[in-house]
Amino acid sequence: MEVLLPTTKHRRGRRTARQEAALASASAYLLAGGADLAAVFDGWPVVLDMGFGTGEAVITYAESDPATRILAVDMHTPGIGDLLASIAEGGLSNVFVIEADVREVLTNGVHTGMIAGARSLFPDPWPKKRHHRRRLIQPEFVEMLADRMMIGATWHIATDWPDYAKHIEGVLAASSQWLGGRVPRPHDRPLTRFERRGLAAGRQPIDLRYARAQS
Ligand SMILES: C[S@@+](CC[C@H](N)C(=O)[O-])C[C@H]1O[C@@H](n2cnc3c(N)ncnc32)[C@H](O)[C@@H]1O
Repeated sequence: MEVLLPTTKHRRGRRTARQEAALASASAYLLAGGADLAAVFDGWPVVLDMGFGTGEAVITYAESDPATRILAVDMHTPGIGDLLASIAEGGLSNVFVIEADVREVLTNGVHTGMIAGARSLFPDPWPKKRHHRRRLIQPEFVEMLADRMMIGATWHIATDWPDYAKHIEGVLAASSQWLGGRVPRPHDRPLTRFERRGLAAGRQPIDLRYARAQS
């Protein structure tokens, strides 16, 4: 399925020395946007982590489950540097990073039924009404992701914007490919940087879990 992409910009931003050094190193864990992902993952279970920010949660999940490979995708260059640095410092070999719009990666690099799990922890909420169309989780997107997921595989989403949570529930309820809804916060979900900021501002996280249904 073809997804129409709104204009997307890579977010280059200012970088720390740690980020710069990691970005300059030839990390084997930084994949090109057009990489043959089926060859890279070679039948291993792959969890797609979309919009990881600085990647702290990715590292925690990777350390706790070394048998699963994580494909971590974000467009924020400093965050890519952070995650590459953490991979090297932790000696991890199960995290692969792509700097790209996840919609492009799903369109061009991921095959049908390849993804064993997915996570979207605190996707950009775009709180202003006129920006809602920029939100990642939209009808075309959930159909595309469903196609790339294994039957029964789960997608974990967290947001601390109640109206985005309602939007997500509406979009997924309207799709025949997904079953699920709100869940208590999973005990093993790490606190993320964005979540910490939200808690400090008085926002409460909402967790949602959906399974790729049998079509
Ligand atoms: C609000 S931050 C949350 C970061 C992290 N998950 C956390 O909880 O701290 C959203 C992240 O999603 C990334 N992002 C937004 N749209 C994206 C897209 N289409 N593809 C990949 N990453 C995206 C942003 O660059 C940003 O790092």
